[in-house]
Amino acid sequence: MSANIAELERRRAAAMLGGGQERIDAQHAKGKLTARERIAVLLDEGSFEELDMYVEHNCDDFGMEHQKVPGDGVVTGSGTINGRLAFVYAQDFTVFGGSLSERHAQKICKIMDMALKVGAPVIGLSDSGGARIQEGVASLGGYAEVFQRNVLASGVVPQLSLIMGPCAGGAVYSPAMTDFIFMVKGTSYMFVTGPDVVKTVTNEVVSQEELGGATTHTTRTGVADLALENDLEALLAARRFFDFLPLSNRDELPERPTTDPWDRIENSLDTLVPDNPNHPYDMHELVRKVLDEGDFFELQPDHAGNILIGFGRVEGRTVGVVANQPMVLAGCLDINSSKKAARFVRFCDCFDIPILTFVDVPGFLPGTAQELGGIIKHGAKLLYAFAEATVPKITVITRKAYGGAYDVMASKHLRGDLNYAWPTAEIAVMGAKGAVEIIFRKEAAHPERIAERTKEYEDAFANPFVAASKGFIDEVIYPHSTRRRVALGLRKLRNKQLDNPWKKHGNMPL
Ligand code: HXC
Repeated sequence: MSANIAELERRRAAAMLGGGQERIDAQHAKGKLTARERIAVLLDEGSFEELDMYVEHNCDDFGMEHQKVPGDGVVTGSGTINGRLAFVYAQDFTVFGGSLSERHAQKICKIMDMALKVGAPVIGLSDSGGARIQEGVASLGGYAEVFQRNVLASGVVPQLSLIMGPCAGGAVYSPAMTDFIFMVKGTSYMFVTGPDVVKTVTNEVVSQEELGGATTHTTRTGVADLALENDLEALLAARRFFDFLPLSNRDELPERPTTDPWDRIENSLDTLVPDNPNHPYDMHELVRKVLDEGDFFELQPDHAGNILIGFGRVEGRTVGVVANQPMVLAGCLDINSSKKAARFVRFCDCFDIPILTFVDVPGFLPGTAQELGGIIKHGAKLLYAFAEATVPKITVITRKAYGGAYDVMASKHLRGDLNYAWPTAEIAVMGAKGAVEIIFRKEAAHPERIAERTKEYEDAFANPFVAASKGFIDEVIYPHSTRRRVALGLRKLRNKQLDNPWKKHGNMPL
């Protein structure tokens, strides 16, 4: 018996060592943790139960039959994060550069299948040289098996990707299909074709960092949601983030006790909107003052800053927040902000997370870049997402809600459940100046008449009461009582039931 146990211990110790001490040291020298160290930070202490520790590759080419490492470059299993179940895989760069073999893929698929069956999120930690070159097409098949599961799991269990090293070629498409991507600055990158291929094909010279580093993907492309300073920060952020997520689409919203009074009054909100309608203010202030303890987990903070998205809690329960930000592009909707918010709204809807929308939107951003870039189709994504969503939807218009953007931003007409406006709200087809220039074009030569007409238009439409008189706004509320109203609304809507007509799936404007 003791000999058997000794053998087990020997095998476990060998597996723990991955690609060996030298490669572990090299990993550390790059400022990176190993796969197992990462899992230890991500999960509650001692909660990780590893599976498939002794799996080896099945490749006999290129001398691979003499190079077998238990685990085959990926550590898989499950554990808990603050007591809640999560399935995890972490690619081990010390073993064949974390490259994906057929067996490596099978290990990932096994935990994904299990996560789907039991209803728990999948967190993938990527650090890989891509397809295991020695295996050829077997590796490609392995990727596709993972992709297929990413798609089947989408909307059933939350999927989070942490990119903590290379992630290149077709391999990027697994994280791309997950719900959220966090990247580590300086050590991670994602691209379909790397700098060398780019140079050969297009003659462009570009660094790895510029082409697909964490900063690029969290500022320019919007592919990733957050850029963190190092492995530790990324893993701790993932733990904090996980606490907001339901475990699956059949699980309840997570709830955490809070001491923040549900009816907290915030008098400062009464003066948040400046007197001059063209002056900006920071929408973060409203978001934080409404959420429990001011805790807002913002996603994509450096991409499409004209819209804010992220999670918070009200009375301890998760809400998804979407808010126009007047500090950036005056809060206009454009291509990037529409795409950013649409995907977020759809995530919330998949997992029954109520959506809280704060509106201050002067319209869609004008310009050839937007029109020729396809704003019609991209703007429609956000419209489609809000219109399709059946979760509780509470909307608060703080100031401008003009034109089509009024409709898009979770308006009453898109089945908003509770649509509130502050007394400062202006709900109209467009701003007074633009409106008067069009309808009184013949009087353009008379500035005094134009000024008079503008005043008339403002008096008539620069308020929430016209919309309220039609029932498009349910109530005009005091800004200071916004949290109270939202909390009461969410309570009221907790058992909301609304189903869309049966269909295989819709055909959203992609
Ligand atoms: C097998 C690989 C490997 C791979 C790295 N290694 N990538 N083994 N298949 N794809 C091995 C190396 O041989 C080395 O082994 C160890 O991992 C570490 O690699 P290094 O090159 O020493 O590390 P580093 O200098 O940090 O460079 C990392 C790297 C580089 C940039 C990822 O290894 C690299 O360019 N690898 C190849 C990338 C690639 O072309 N992959 C295929 C892409 S196509 P030893 O024994 O020396 O430690 C693809 C298609 C997917 O992925 C399609 C999906 C649909």
